[in-house]
Amino acid sequence: MNQKILIWDVPTRVFHWLLVGSFAGAYYTADSERYRDIHVMLGYILLGLIVFRIFWGFGGTRYARFSSFMFKPSEVVAYLISLVKRKPADYLGHNPAGSVAIWLLLLFGITSGVTGVMALKDIGGDIVVEWHDWVSESMLAIVIVHVLGVLVSSVMHRENLVRSMITGFKAGEPNEGIQYSYAWLGVVMLCVTVVFWLTFSAKS
Ligand code: HEM
Repeated sequence: MNQKILIWDVPTRVFHWLLVGSFAGAYYTADSERYRDIHVMLGYILLGLIVFRIFWGFGGTRYARFSSFMFKPSEVVAYLISLVKRKPADYLGHNPAGSVAIWLLLLFGITSGVTGVMALKDIGGDIVVEWHDWVSESMLAIVIVHVLGVLVSSVMHRENLVRSMITGFKAGEPNEGIQYSYAWLGVVMLCVTVVFWLTFSAKS
């Protein structure tokens, strides 16, 4: 019998929504001299979040672990075919097609952050600045595909995936859920972000 079970721990959810805010803010402030300090600060936050996520991908809870969303290309194709046939295969964690966007977002996010820091420190010249622009624009394109994918999956599976990324719950068998939400770690992440924000703002 399907019940509400916990899938996404608190650190994964805090990571996700802070990443959304930091990317959106950094993208919005990218071309403005006036908001340069805010852009740099949000870039550092984005980079810090992805570094955290890499550790959490190895040591986090079941569905947050990288091993739970490493799929073969054949599995991605099979999932896409199941979508087209309107009989989508069920996955409690990330589905194979969604996982492709997630890997790309993590890769482009870290590249955008690293090239941003290099550009700030005048390392690598104009080519690094161009890479930074290109990677960040590409990331926006992947975000759009990601959000469309989430909406399509939500409709096909008749399950509100956005709500799951907020509450952490999905429908499933009780033994498939995670035991601990690690709420304390989510609180630590929020506190570190706020302290970093305040310290950075006071210095600039
Ligand atoms: C800057 C924009 C965004 C970025 C960079 C981003 C990035 C990510 C990443 C990295 C994950 C994987 C989470 C993890 O395992 O740690 C994820 C999952 C997810 N995101 Fe986003 N996201 C963005 C915007 C959004 C928005 C606007 C929504 C809602 C409309 C959304 C809904 C979701 C959902 C529902 C999942 C879980 C998908 C699943 O059930 O497999 N994302 N996102």
